[in-house]
Amino acid sequence: MNLYIWLFLLGLARVQAAIQCNSSSSCPEEAPCCSQFGECGTGGYCLGGCNPQFSYNYKSCMAMPICKDTNTKFNKYRSKVLDKDTYLGNASAGDWAYSGYLMDYEDEESLLLAMPKDSSGTVLSSTRYVWYGKISARMKTSHRSGVVSAFILFSNVEDEVDNEWVGSDLNNVQTNYYFEGTLNYTHSRNSSANQTFSNFHTYEIDWREDKLMWLVDGKVGRTLYKNSTYNHTTKRYDYPQTPSRVQISLWPGGNSTNTNGTIAWAGGKIDWDASDLKNPGYYYMTLNEVNISCYDPPSYAKKNGSQAYSFTSDTSFLSQNVALTDDQSMLYSSEGSGLEPKLGKDNDTSSKGSSKATSTRATSSSLASGASTAFIQNINSGKSSSNSKNGGRVINKPGVLTLLTLILSCVV
Ligand SMILES: *[C@@H]1O[C@H](CO)[C@@H](O)[C@H](O)[C@H]1NC(C)=O
Ligand SMILES: *[C@@H]1O[C@H](CO)[C@@H](O)[C@H](O)[C@H]1NC(C)=O
Ligand SMILES: *[C@@H]1O[C@H](CO)[C@@H](O)[C@H](O)[C@H]1NC(C)=O
Ligand SMILES: *[C@@H]1O[C@H](CO)[C@@H](O)[C@H](O)[C@H]1NC(C)=O
Ligand SMILES: *[C@@H]1O[C@H](CO)[C@@H](O)[C@H](O)[C@H]1NC(C)=O
Ligand SMILES: *[C@@H]1O[C@H](CO)[C@@H](O)[C@H](O)[C@H]1NC(C)=O
Ligand SMILES: *[C@@H]1O[C@H](CO)[C@@H](O)[C@H](O)[C@H]1NC(C)=O
Ligand SMILES: *[C@@H]1O[C@H](CO)[C@@H](O)[C@H](O)[C@H]1NC(C)=O
Ligand SMILES: *[C@@H]1O[C@H](CO)[C@@H](O)[C@H](O)[C@H]1NC(C)=O
Ligand SMILES: *[C@@H]1O[C@H](CO)[C@@H](O)[C@H](O)[C@H]1NC(C)=O
Ligand SMILES: *[C@@H]1O[C@H](CO)[C@@H](O)[C@H](O)[C@H]1NC(C)=O
Ligand SMILES: *[C@@H]1O[C@H](CO)[C@@H](O)[C@H](O)[C@H]1NC(C)=O
Repeated sequence: MNLYIWLFLLGLARVQAAIQCNSSSSCPEEAPCCSQFGECGTGGYCLGGCNPQFSYNYKSCMAMPICKDTNTKFNKYRSKVLDKDTYLGNASAGDWAYSGYLMDYEDEESLLLAMPKDSSGTVLSSTRYVWYGKISARMKTSHRSGVVSAFILFSNVEDEVDNEWVGSDLNNVQTNYYFEGTLNYTHSRNSSANQTFSNFHTYEIDWREDKLMWLVDGKVGRTLYKNSTYNHTTKRYDYPQTPSRVQISLWPGGNSTNTNGTIAWAGGKIDWDASDLKNPGYYYMTLNEVNISCYDPPSYAKKNGSQAYSFTSDTSFLSQNVALTDDQSMLYSSEGSGLEPKLGKDNDTSSKGSSKATSTRATSSSLASGASTAFIQNINSGKSSSNSKNGGRVINKPGVLTLLTLILSCVV
């Protein structure tokens, strides 16, 4: 058996055996980081979305790169977006990382986030965190039942600020917020916007220490005051308050494997044979520009550096438990973690081979549903690229594709 096949199968086997992490069970030391999907691992698991609450300890997750003012025009930007599969936390190398399917759409000087048939769509994440700031996105949403477009802030402990659009209602933005991932069905509100699929609008989240505002084209659609979120039982504010990444995504809320509640919320089941799937060949949303303007951290924040945000407690994950530090936010290999950030540095020959295997492991889970479908999709989209919007074509995850190609070439 070829080495690569074996490593690949090993990777798959490990995915199936992935150790889960949740509020009742933290990760073990050898796979210390709890990913946003509730799985333990090293490497990418310790970067964006690594939840210190359920990790081996709060230092397992890497420090969070500090906010930087940016204006990103997504014109011919595809090549500048980092691949989440190989990203190891060097935020200086790029402002955005993605998983899924991206392409340039030069007619509108924009980037398309695509969702081909049966895929799980696309997520674009900022590599840096915002700890209060104003974030605006000029974009057009996708459309049709079951197709969800989103522009959110998401913290590692699952504080969340949402703008979401369900494709069956193109005249509303659903705004929402979560504190540490606690579900509460009463927090959603609608703001109106005209024909979000056909028209560009500027959506803005103005996130301050004391209040949160959601705007459409400069008009405030909703305000949430921190003081209105006080929880008398826990004596704390159930208010989004920890450093958060900016995420823009397109996902299949109406996929038949989702729960009935999710499908109903998403406006019904997705039609995977809709006209978009024939031309251009996928559902898509159109991202033109994102501005991030950082506010100062709270005045009480402890300062012991200027490069990153770090949690300072293993038991409490509120704004008062965040400090400015120079802690490491970058790994040297996919075997590293906050406990051993330099693992893999300076020992090239031995670590390169194995880091390939673990990086497959570290990323396959996000692909679990779609690796082979995506592969087939890529072949198909190659054939029909002339139908594609602006001649672009679905670009697959190179890591997995390379491995699959290798396997096929070995088998054949
Ligand atoms: C939490 O994780 C443990 C250990 O992996 C697992 O056995 C359990 O089923 C998980 N609980 C939930 C509610 O997912
Ligand atoms: C991080 O990326 C920047 C820009 O690409 C590069 O100059 C720098 O050497 C990288 N840092 C490390 C430690 O690899
Ligand atoms: C969507 O549902 C199909 C079955 O209809 C399933 O094969 C696929 O894995 C699901 N995709 C996602 C992203 O859940
Ligand atoms: C981003 O900032 C530039 C410069 O201030 C401005 O012209 C543009 O309209 C802003 N775009 C968004 C989406 O806020
Ligand atoms: C949901 O939030 C509202 C107001 O923010 C609160 O009154 C209500 O008790 C919460 N419900 C649950 C189940 O926590
Ligand atoms: C927002 O609009 C949707 C229809 O698109 C509706 O189902 C939902 O109940 C509305 N939410 C609120 C909080 O009014
Ligand atoms: C809504 O957008 C459509 C174009 O998609 C435009 O024709 C119409 O005038 C707009 N309506 C309002 C109230 O702005
Ligand atoms: C919350 O703060 C706002 C602005 O500071 C103020 O207008 C409002 O009255 C306060 N509400 C409560 C419930 O304290
Ligand atoms: C207060 O927080 C507790 C624990 O998270 C939660 O169960 C409860 O519903 C919250 N109360 C309100 C009013 O939201
Ligand atoms: C979900 O909806 C389907 C069809 O509408 C129904 O057959 C099924 O019983 C529902 N499942 C649950 C758990 O409610
Ligand atoms: C401050 O940072 C330095 C180096 O980044 C570290 O050695 C030191 O332990 C930190 N001090 C505190 C109090 O965290
Ligand atoms: C590789 O790096 C690790 C962690 O820094 C170190 O423990 C190990 O000795 C290194 N191996 C070699 C061959 O240098």
